[in-house]
Amino acid sequence: MTGPGTSRTGSLPDFPWDALGPAARRARAHPGGIVDLSVGTPVDPTPEVVQRALRDAADAPGYPLTAGTPALREAAAGWAARSRGAVGLDPEAVLPTIGSKELVAWLPTLLGLGPGDVVVIPEVAYPTYDVGARLAGARAVAVPPGGWPTEEQLRGPDGAPGRVRLVWLNSPSNPTGAVAGVEQLRSAVERARAEGAVVASDECYAELAWDVEEVPSVLDPRVCGTGKGSHDGLLLVTSLSKRSNLAGYRGGAVLGDPRLVAQLLAVRKHAGMIVPAPVQAAVAAAFSDDEHVAVQRERYRARRSVLRAALEGAGLRVEHSEAGLYLWTRAAGAAGTASGSGWELLDRLADLGILVAPGDFYGPSASAHIRVALTASDERVSAAAARLAALAG
Ligand SMILES: Cc1ncc(COP(=O)(O)O)c(C=O)c1O
Repeated sequence: MTGPGTSRTGSLPDFPWDALGPAARRARAHPGGIVDLSVGTPVDPTPEVVQRALRDAADAPGYPLTAGTPALREAAAGWAARSRGAVGLDPEAVLPTIGSKELVAWLPTLLGLGPGDVVVIPEVAYPTYDVGARLAGARAVAVPPGGWPTEEQLRGPDGAPGRVRLVWLNSPSNPTGAVAGVEQLRSAVERARAEGAVVASDECYAELAWDVEEVPSVLDPRVCGTGKGSHDGLLLVTSLSKRSNLAGYRGGAVLGDPRLVAQLLAVRKHAGMIVPAPVQAAVAAAFSDDEHVAVQRERYRARRSVLRAALEGAGLRVEHSEAGLYLWTRAAGAAGTASGSGWELLDRLADLGILVAPGDFYGPSASAHIRVALTASDERVSAAAARLAALAG
C-alpha cells in the first residue's frame, strides 16, 4: 500500500508505449517512411461544425461549470437516446469529462474505493482500467468475457476476501474489437447489482461498428430494465475523441445513474476537474451532430477493408474486430499464446516500416497478438498494403 512519503508511481506499471521505441526507430528508417498504426489517434480533420463551436466560444473569461453547460448536458442526453438507446436519461445525469482517460483513471478514487476493494476488468483490456484501481489503492482482477472473479482471485495478498465495488465493461473492446450482446451485458449488470457493485461501461467505440447488427449499450432497456431505477448503479462512459476526431480537445462524458453522477460531480468540483468552456461548446456541437460521424465511419470502413485484406493476404489472421478502430491480428497457425510471438510479428512489420502495438500491452493472455489501428491517412494505409503484399510474396 502507498503511504505518506511513498511515491504513487511505485504502484503503477511502466508506461507501455516506451517499450516501442526501438521498433519505432526501425520503422521510421524505412525509405518510404513510417506507417504508424500503433496508437488509435485520429488523423482526419476535426469537423468544421465542431471547430466553429470552439471558435465561437473562444471568449471565456469566467470559470466554466464542472457540471457542464445545460446545452452540453442536453446534447449528450439527446445523443444517448438517439445513438445508444437510453430511455429517460435526464440531462442532470450527464457529466462532461476531460477526455475519457482521466475518468477511467480516477473513477475508482472518485467513487471512494480503496484498499480491500476489487475492480473487475476484462482479461484483455485498455490498461487504464488497471491503473485506475491502483491509483485508488484498490486491486484489479481480470476476468474473461462474461466472467466473474473466483473466490481465490477475490482474496487479497493478506488472504482477506476483497469486495467487488466496480465492474468495467468495454464493448466494442479495445483492443479486440469484440462486441458484447444484450444477454452478456444484462447478465453482467445483474451480477454486479446483486453484489452491490457499480458497472462502468466504456462505449467509446460504439459508433464504429462493421460486422455486427448492433452494439448495445449498458443503458439500453433490454440490458438495464425499464422505469424508475433502471439506471441504478450504471455509468456509460464515452469519448468524442474517436467518433468526432476530437482527441486534441479532450472531450468525453459519463452518464447514467443520477445519484452516482451527482457524487462524481461533488468530488470533481472540489478537485478542479473542469472541462474548459470552449471545449464544452465544441462537445455540445459534436454530440448534436450525427452526420460527421457517418462520414468518418465510412473513411474507417474503407481503410479497414484495405488493411484487413492486406493482412490476410500476407498470411495473418484477423480475429474479432467486428467493431472499433483496430484489427486484432496474429500470425496464422501460431501455436497457443506462445510468449513473444506478437513482438516477433511486430518486429517483422517494423522492418517494413509499419508500426503496430503488441498484444501483451493489453494483458498477458494476448501475447500472440498485435493490434493494428485504422487511424492513418488513405495514403499511408495504401503504403502499408503495398508493403504487406511484398511480405506475402
Ligand atoms: C477503451 C478506451 N477507453 C478510453 C480511451 C480514452 O480516450 P480519450 O481519453 O481520448 O477519451 C481510449 C483511448 O484510446 C480507449 O481505447
